[in-house]
Amino acid sequence: MKTKNIFIKTFGCQMNEYDSQRIYDNVTNLGFIKTSDQANAECYVLNTCHIRDKAKEKVYHEIGRVKKLYRDKKKPIMVVAGCVAQAENEEMLKREPYIDIVIGPQAYHKINELLKQHESNIKQEEIEFDTISKFRHFDNVKNNNNKISAFLTIQEGCDKFCHFCVVPYTRGPEYSRPFNQIITEAEQLIKNGAKEITLLGQNVNAYSYRENLKEFRLSDLINHLNQYSELERIRYTTSHPRDMTDDLINCYSSIQKLMPFVHLPIQSGSDRVLELMNRKHTVDDYIKIYKKLKKINREIEFSSDFIIGYPGETTKDFEDTLNLINKIKFINSFSFIFSPRPGTRSSKLEMIDKNTAKERLKLIQEKLFYNQIKKNKSFENTVVDVLVENKMEKQNKFFGRNKYISPVIFDGIDENIGKIVKVKIENSNQNSLFGSLKKKMKAA
Ligand code: SAM
Ligand code: SF4
Ligand code: F3S
Repeated sequence: MKTKNIFIKTFGCQMNEYDSQRIYDNVTNLGFIKTSDQANAECYVLNTCHIRDKAKEKVYHEIGRVKKLYRDKKKPIMVVAGCVAQAENEEMLKREPYIDIVIGPQAYHKINELLKQHESNIKQEEIEFDTISKFRHFDNVKNNNNKISAFLTIQEGCDKFCHFCVVPYTRGPEYSRPFNQIITEAEQLIKNGAKEITLLGQNVNAYSYRENLKEFRLSDLINHLNQYSELERIRYTTSHPRDMTDDLINCYSSIQKLMPFVHLPIQSGSDRVLELMNRKHTVDDYIKIYKKLKKINREIEFSSDFIIGYPGETTKDFEDTLNLINKIKFINSFSFIFSPRPGTRSSKLEMIDKNTAKERLKLIQEKLFYNQIKKNKSFENTVVDVLVENKMEKQNKFFGRNKYISPVIFDGIDENIGKIVKVKIENSNQNSLFGSLKKKMKAA
């Protein structure tokens, strides 16, 4: 079979990263080989994200860049995948003739068919929500990801319809993959060398799969993965406060491999705003979960997502969010100004003053970053366990993560890749820890 190069550029969340890998696993059957040279590919895939800002315009801008790259060369097959593809569908083909294929996140099993049809110059758009067929198809396509830390999607879509969010429209209804399908894929990843698996879902802790009258939950998956001796660490993201059930919370008392770091988005510290957002949980619900987890394991640390300047957010609402951050010292969070998404309920609401929103974002980030820097500083002169992922390209240093997912950059040796090593932390900044290998000290 004649081989051809494919370049895949991924935007957005971890699920898009997972999807890009699966798209690649699929197209290798057509002779495509991944390249890192974006200017020399027969096929160019943009895997897009629609969550915030001018997502659609960014895609057209990217295509403008690709056009320039290939000005004097044969044009690549231009594929737009991901959440913008789903939201914009055939409009994209009309607006930008350079695009050949538009494919939504629940139709990736059809990508080879579309690429074959493209040989006859047929432009294609495929945006069906066919999640069951997609995963059934991928059940027979080996996951060739050979990273030390691998993603594995267990659940997709969302039925919660927070008023600000585009995900239920771009990823479709909530769907949980069959338990055995997930385990088979996890075994492939472990065989390929994965030492850490992050289970993914837009509402990963809503995972629920029923077979023979038994319900399998996220806690069952974690318990099962715990049995693989080659696997060192288990993580999951993104969880929702409404689905933080006791079976999952209890995993933190018995499963050492489950990392003591919980990314649990709250969005706002004001019950009034949470209600306006249709979150269907209160600040108190969140604090109860926090307390339960801390009681089970004091080491657990939290991170969150915040939306600032949601329509109707008052100074008092914003202060409530600041107060929450004073109570819960999140160690690493995402905060963004509300961005109206086409088709969502809140896109029709009146925005708050832009400068006020910017000022609030600045204030909240000062607080969040202060906590983050403080937490990182607390690791200085201690020894931490680091799962070594790779050698860094441009420096003679190694890259890994501590249990709280913070990047650790350190002097090490090639043999340590894929192992958990003890690193003495000498320095830190807001995002990373820096140090060198230490063999005979107790880990913090
Ligand atoms: N399912 C997760 C939850 O409910 O917490 C969140 C998944 S969403 C892909 C990731 C984050 O994007 C959200 O937690 C939210 O903070 C942010 N987000 C979503 N829509 C947004 C919008 N319209 N404007 C700003 N941020 C938004
Ligand atoms: Fe979006 Fe998460 Fe809300 Fe679903 S639960 S609508 S993914 S923010
Ligand atoms: Fe973006 Fe879609 Fe993920 S909108 S955040 S790529 S689910």
